[in-house]
Amino acid sequence: MDSNEIRSRFLKFFEARGHKIIPSASLVPENDPSVLFNTAGMQPLVPYLMGQKHPGGTRLVNVQKCVRTQDIDEVGDKTHDTFFEMMGNWSLGDYFKEDAIKWSYEFLTSKEEGLGLDPRRLYVTVFEGDENAPRDEELAGIWQEIFKKNNISGERIYFRPADKNWWSVGDNGPCGPDTEMFYDLTGKLTEGMTLEEYMKADDEQRVVEIWNDVFMEYEKKDGKVIRKLKQKNVDTGSGLERVVMAVQGKDSIFDTDLFAPIMDLIKEKSVNYDLRSARIIADHFRTAVFMITDGVIPSNTGRGYILRRLLRRIFTKSSIIELSNYTCKEFVDVLYKIYSKNYPEIYEKLNDIIAIFGEEEKIFEKPLDGVETYRLDLLEAMKFGVIKKVGNIPILKDKNTVSGLYIHALFAMHGNPMDLMIGVAKELGFKIDENEINEAIKKHQELSRSASAGMFKGGLANHDERTIKLHTAHHLLLAALKAVVGENVKQRGSNITERRLRIDFLCDHKLTDEEKKKVEDWVNDKIQKGLSVTRRELPLHLAKKIGAEMEFGAKYPDTVSVYFIGPGEEKYSAVSKEFCGGPHVTNTGVLGTFKIQKEEAIAAGIRRIKAVLV
Ligand code: SER
Repeated sequence: MDSNEIRSRFLKFFEARGHKIIPSASLVPENDPSVLFNTAGMQPLVPYLMGQKHPGGTRLVNVQKCVRTQDIDEVGDKTHDTFFEMMGNWSLGDYFKEDAIKWSYEFLTSKEEGLGLDPRRLYVTVFEGDENAPRDEELAGIWQEIFKKNNISGERIYFRPADKNWWSVGDNGPCGPDTEMFYDLTGKLTEGMTLEEYMKADDEQRVVEIWNDVFMEYEKKDGKVIRKLKQKNVDTGSGLERVVMAVQGKDSIFDTDLFAPIMDLIKEKSVNYDLRSARIIADHFRTAVFMITDGVIPSNTGRGYILRRLLRRIFTKSSIIELSNYTCKEFVDVLYKIYSKNYPEIYEKLNDIIAIFGEEEKIFEKPLDGVETYRLDLLEAMKFGVIKKVGNIPILKDKNTVSGLYIHALFAMHGNPMDLMIGVAKELGFKIDENEINEAIKKHQELSRSASAGMFKGGLANHDERTIKLHTAHHLLLAALKAVVGENVKQRGSNITERRLRIDFLCDHKLTDEEKKKVEDWVNDKIQKGLSVTRRELPLHLAKKIGAEMEFGAKYPDTVSVYFIGPGEEKYSAVSKEFCGGPHVTNTGVLGTFKIQKEEAIAAGIRRIKAVLV
């Protein structure tokens, strides 16, 4: 049974039981600024669950497009996705527990009209009760009857607390206890399970939730259940992707017909295939296409920001698995084949999708300015409420305060100007712990003084402004030597003080005066051009592939920091790209004039240059 058949069986089954088929609402909620996307089938129906009359009557059935990003970090496992379709049948003050359960069971297990799933592989949970509502013995009784009638033995009904079996969206609106149905994917747990065994199987994704019937007869206000609603509703939700996985006997949603063709395309087009990255790309691409189809465009706030983040994750993961030689249209074509029957509008937006994808890719590939990266990090922490870490340092001290340690670390590691970072934080409405910054500076100075070698972690230990300038000049000098003397010049060592820089490099001859002059001119030309200096984190293999300069014989981690000098519009067209921990100036225009002081041999085949900025 393919996914189209499953959707259509669902709608027909409930239509035959008096339900009116209604179309999916847009992913973007109408008249509800409090949420970015519809995250559940019930969201567009809230007014009707609260008592307003629906033109379709009191029994409805639909398949609603939803986006949930709070579990984004789980995407890549077997069952999580950021876009999904929720099949739902609705009673608006009409039938209640008995019929809802009976029909859920019948649809899941009936071979004729439903999905024909094996009832011996079904497990259910019901609400165990709390101060808001009693233990749901009534529901447990209904389930017992059903299992008994169908000769299904073994323990399979579990009482669970409100964090599992009470449904609401946010702190306000209709809510109530629910009963959730789980399917044993392995087919090996058919004798029933104790509660502990079931919980373990759930953790290990051996059973997955495929259906949820919520009995919405309560109202929540400011996080508290305040009263019973005027009517008793049923909100059922069955995630299409998981149901398809169960019906098709697949091990993950990515193996079903909803994803397999996209996964195949990714596999075919990638050099360095990795399953988790491929799943993330497939998931995010599908979500982005549906968002764009519903009118979302990338931006730095709200919905547009979520879309931009998804696209950026696609580009990052694509570079990790070296996805190449593909066009956005090829991907949309594959997606369209899967969805054309139900969402033909995807193709009407084809040009928008291709344009947005291309535009975002271009912006992404521009090596990001350090402060811009920092701004995006703050926005991310703000939007997702996540206290993310850079190294071991939390971005936020609390919801409203940017960590001073984090700001200092960015300055120390990448040379981001402090005042700009403080400005950006304030502009976004954050407070800053300036004491913490001052303490970090003091501590760092002590550390720098005690560091015996001039270099640490591939970067510069001394963060005096003059040293930082010489550091950037050092990168230009290496690039100049390669341009003037030859590509086989390789760095063998370096040392920078506040007064001069020194580079040791592989070279088979003494530099002529003409060569030295050309090298100086080359560097000074790049200084005069006022080129931007930017940093990007790249997977090691990609950094090597684009030819970033690395220290001869050094060992590097899987992800490396690369500094680019020069225009980033064209992919990696910078005049210098080097593996480096920074810090650097942000623009070469501030360096002054570059002068070589001395050129000499220090060993066979190794030359040394000392140079200054005046
Ligand atoms: N609102 C419930 C859910 O999303 C049932 O539809 O799981």
